[in-house]
Amino acid sequence: MKRILSGIQPSGKPHLGNYLGAMRQHIEMQKDFEAILFIADLHALTTVRNAAEMKAQTLDIAAAYLALGLDTKKTIFFKQSDLSEHAELCWILDCITMMPFLERAHAWKDAQAKGKKETTVGLFNYPILQAADILLYQPDLVPVGQDQKQHIEMARDIAQNFNNIFGPTFKLPEPFIKKEVAIVPGTDGQKMSKSYGNTIDIFADEATLKKQVMGIKTDSTPLETPKDPEKCLVFKLYSLIATPAETKALEKKYRKGGFGYGDAKKLLLAKILEIFAEPRTKYEKLIKNPSLLKKTLEDGAKRAKKLAEKTLKEVKEKVGY
Ligand code: TRP
Repeated sequence: MKRILSGIQPSGKPHLGNYLGAMRQHIEMQKDFEAILFIADLHALTTVRNAAEMKAQTLDIAAAYLALGLDTKKTIFFKQSDLSEHAELCWILDCITMMPFLERAHAWKDAQAKGKKETTVGLFNYPILQAADILLYQPDLVPVGQDQKQHIEMARDIAQNFNNIFGPTFKLPEPFIKKEVAIVPGTDGQKMSKSYGNTIDIFADEATLKKQVMGIKTDSTPLETPKDPEKCLVFKLYSLIATPAETKALEKKYRKGGFGYGDAKKLLLAKILEIFAEPRTKYEKLIKNPSLLKKTLEDGAKRAKKLAEKTLKEVKEKVGY
């Protein structure tokens, strides 16, 4: 069975874009692969500067994955900071990686271009920690969004470099970018993102969720007038979660006229509540039980450690420790 690994930054309660763009794929991988999934809370320290926030965001994302169907008997699920191996391997890789190589990273270049001269060493080093995350577990595939492709290529280059210097050690990972991973629009039409404040929060209370859905931007076509579904955000979002038959039925309503955007929003809200009914209930239970969540992650960390330890031991021997 092929081994697949991915990481996700703990950015709080996930929204519909997180779910459709990454989480769903992470959960599905447990069916066909030996799956490893971790919460990248070491990476999160490049932006989060508050212990309570770090804790809450980590538990939120753990609860969400479990509520959405991640099976910890199948997937090894843990948080990065529970293991020392990630940071340890990161240092070793730091010592064989050249500065100009890191300066080519998109994330770094963007930060520089935006005039953020005061970026941390951690942010600069982000791709090496990510390489360590990956190489420790010798996965065959790393499923990520398009924006992470360069990081996987860098991990490959770093692995190759280590192998050239110290002899064959790391398996070269392949990025696994699913073409159909949707770009999910937010309520204002830009990409759905917490930083734009345009999210649909699948685990929010019903009133908040309703407010978000009712706030989706639409044009001012009157109720009676037939509408073009392709031009409507509500329709787009509906089509991402409804069955093809349901989507067809909604399309007909749009084209026929006498159907307003408010009606469409009500259908969308009902669909969200229907699809996420079970996960929402589970999430509510889990989030009230932080000790269970922590225990679950710790159990995962124990399993992960067995794999990580083995690679790190070999690496240490290779470099002469
Ligand atoms: N950088 C990734 C992101 O922001 C998260 C991540 C950290 C990751 N380590 C990883 C993804 C290792 C894949 C493999 O989405």
